[in-house]
Amino acid sequence: MPSSPLPRTPLSAPPHVRTSRAVVPRGHSRDIAAVLIPQLRIQRRVAELAAAISADYRDQELLVVALLNGTVAFLADLMRQMEFPLTMDLMGVSSYRSGTTSGDLAYTKRLKVDVRGRQVLVVDDILDTGKTLTAVTRELKALGAAGLRTCVLLDKPTSRSGGFEADYVGFVVPHLFVVGYGLDYAEKYRNLPFVGVLKKEVYAPETPE
Ligand code: XMP
Repeated sequence: MPSSPLPRTPLSAPPHVRTSRAVVPRGHSRDIAAVLIPQLRIQRRVAELAAAISADYRDQELLVVALLNGTVAFLADLMRQMEFPLTMDLMGVSSYRSGTTSGDLAYTKRLKVDVRGRQVLVVDDILDTGKTLTAVTRELKALGAAGLRTCVLLDKPTSRSGGFEADYVGFVVPHLFVVGYGLDYAEKYRNLPFVGVLKKEVYAPETPE
């Protein structure tokens, strides 16, 4: 389990999101069944996460390691609200190829920055089975990180195996395949400004008899 000896600022428990009444914008209504987390709600929670992380790390030489590609939107918003000098690098890890089930992990981009002796915060879009963050934190520890914590926008605890828990969590989501705000299905839907639920027919089209 990743750990850091630094003190932790209390952060309110991540809200469990079930549904939202927000209307799916017309441009996205063909493929998106519902808005799960509206844009404004994401923005408010990202500000809370950034405030807690800033309080914990403002006097440290923090290295933020963000996992590609799903963190692009979350990282950009989170990082710009961390009001202290930090270093950032990107790691390419891919566990989903083109479907909605977990596959093997492949590194598609290695870090350029030396992590030895650093306080490292790993940022990911969603914690699902925990395989990705377990492997990545193990790798960073082996590379010599002095302290490790993890921050995820979404936590989907229903499919977890192995007991991995993130240190900073935005929202707890139900056992649904979610897209938007950086999260994709077959590399699509990353540009949605909200987190939404994909229509079943998009990922499981009925086959003609
Ligand atoms: P694990 O199972 O390793 O998964 O914790 C982490 C990675 O899996 C992807 N993932 C999803 N991507 N909608 C997505 O767009 C989902 O509901 C979903 N669940 C898992 C994601 O890339 C994450 O980093």
